[in-house]
Amino acid sequence: MGKVKKVDHIAIVVEDIEVALSFWRDALGLELERVEQVPEQAAQVAFLPLGGCEIELVRPITEDSGLVRYLQKRGPGMHHVCFQVDDIRATLQDLKSKSIRLINEEPLVLEGGKKIAFIHPENTGGVLVELYEL
Ligand code: CO
Repeated sequence: MGKVKKVDHIAIVVEDIEVALSFWRDALGLELERVEQVPEQAAQVAFLPLGGCEIELVRPITEDSGLVRYLQKRGPGMHHVCFQVDDIRATLQDLKSKSIRLINEEPLVLEGGKKIAFIHPENTGGVLVELYEL
């Protein structure tokens, strides 16, 4: 069985990065490391590292994507929590064998070789869960 190592990041979908930063950076005091375009998410993302984890403020930059639909339907808020695992294929296999509904049965391989996959909220208490292998 794959092992879950840590919370990697918590993603929060926002309409406006600067408005979101007025809480997360200015009021709460987290450090803003960088803001960059993330093409595979069709989003602009602000990264605020914290204790080996990161808060990601995610703003959709295209007219049509899962993120945009989420924002239109529910408004700004928590989008997903991501866990780093040591063997993503093993974890996906294991979850599948336990009849957990997956969004990605096979990991998506991103630039730089990092692998991710999403677990459907149906079996997670309503939380979209991302798995990530370095
Ligand atoms: Co993520």
